[in-house]
Amino acid sequence: YGRSVDYYESVESTQPIAHDAAQAGVPDGTLIVAEEQTAGRGRLYRPWSSTARKGIWMSLVIRPTLTPQQAPQMTLVAAVAIVRAIEEVTGIEATIKWPNDILINGKKMTGILTELQADPDRVKAIIIGIGMNVNQEEDDFPDELQSIATSLKIATGQHIDRAKLITSILGYLEQYTKMYEKHGFGPIKLLWEGYSNTAGKRIRAVMLNETIEGTALGISDEGLLELQLDDGSVRGIYSADIQIQ
Ligand code: BTN
Repeated sequence: YGRSVDYYESVESTQPIAHDAAQAGVPDGTLIVAEEQTAGRGRLYRPWSSTARKGIWMSLVIRPTLTPQQAPQMTLVAAVAIVRAIEEVTGIEATIKWPNDILINGKKMTGILTELQADPDRVKAIIIGIGMNVNQEEDDFPDELQSIATSLKIATGQHIDRAKLITSILGYLEQYTKMYEKHGFGPIKLLWEGYSNTAGKRIRAVMLNETIEGTALGISDEGLLELQLDDGSVRGIYSADIQIQ
């Protein structure tokens, strides 16, 4: 991945640029990366703060041999790849909060946004958007994020080389995507569960039209979060905001 790179100084968001590039037929592993995003977005179209030159704001176009049903799990594949890359480059052990957050000391340092271009039976492209807080100081975050966001610089006290991190992320992402294509979700699930910060914890899952509480068990073979409710029954959750109690 990353053998073809489109680099921008400032864009609204790398995500639509990657979508257009995918539609125009760019090869597997094409990377769109920007120094600054003026309208970065997160899951559920929430705004994503993307301060110039402090973070990694990038969208990767990949064309794996997967069914559309297997595509959402790419968020989990990417999360494992990112945690491994952080470990390799900084020595820090980050944790994963299902589905798409990477945390250090309980604060969010990376978000992943996976989007799909597909026919009913075939994946045409998967766009993996990665927003990573790297060299921000506390003051670089907007006020409302200061208590909930962190960066690698805040965590290590050191300036981190973003190019090294990108190279490492792309390497692991390629390796784990191949593993997923070849061996299915089992091996990824094992790795993922080793990094999860929710297993065994009491959590609240806030969904669009209901909120439920229970104990997080793990993830299913489809990447759903498995929650044991107080009546003993187990629910697989497809999409939610998770609060750890
Ligand atoms: C989330 O946690 O909700 C996902 C955040 C994803 C942010 C990245 S930054 C690069 C790409 N471009 C965007 O506008 N969003 C993603």
